Amino acid sequence: MEKIKIQNRPFGPFPTMLVGADVNGKPNYVTVGACGVVSLKPMLYISLKSTHYTTAGVKENGYFSVNIPPADLVEQTDYCGMVSGKRIDKSNVFVPFYDESGKAPMIKECTMNFLCKVVQVIPIDDFEMFLGEIVAVYVNEECLTEGKPDPLKINPMIMMGASYYDLNQLLGNAFKAGLKISEGK
Ligand SMILES: Cc1cc2nc3c(=O)[nH]c(=O)nc-3n(C[C@H](O)[C@H](O)[C@H](O)COP(=O)(O)O)c2cc1C
Repeated sequence: MEKIKIQNRPFGPFPTMLVGADVNGKPNYVTVGACGVVSLKPMLYISLKSTHYTTAGVKENGYFSVNIPPADLVEQTDYCGMVSGKRIDKSNVFVPFYDESGKAPMIKECTMNFLCKVVQVIPIDDFEMFLGEIVAVYVNEECLTEGKPDPLKINPMIMMGASYYDLNQLLGNAFKAGLKISEGK
């Protein structure tokens, strides 16, 4: 198979997440692709441009939420990545909910929500990478199968190139799909 060399740019796949923070006393939401795990600890990273409206709220409160929008929220999710809370009030795009700490708004319409406490901030060019310890996780009851979060019911969106995709199908189970090779079967 021939390889074609193309531009030096990331292409994905990236998760499509909505980060929530209170800014000036109101919930604000920003779409991010830069989000993921950093170690085996219950921790998530997000990377936000320093000038984003949400960034000020994350810094001020020391907390942020990471919310998984299901595929049917593609329009609202894209919208939160197109307009800034600096100019347009995004507080009514979703219904917020808070846990008892009241530190960051989570999104009712999202199928899964992670509340994170900022434990480290790493400046990268004109972005800041926030490492957040996961302090609470919520999932919609109808997204559970046998008591566990079910990825196909959570129905996240993956971003690749400049488009959003859903999960479509289960391909195999982690730490099992590779057994065929490791056991030489
Ligand atoms: C699909 C998508 C992914 C994005 N990923 C990021 C990201 O990872 N980090 C970031 O700082 N901005 C990202 N953006 C841009 C912000 O979402 C956008 O600038 C937003 O309007 C900022 O909102 P705010 O100023 O209200 O915080 C992304 C936008 C889209 C549409």
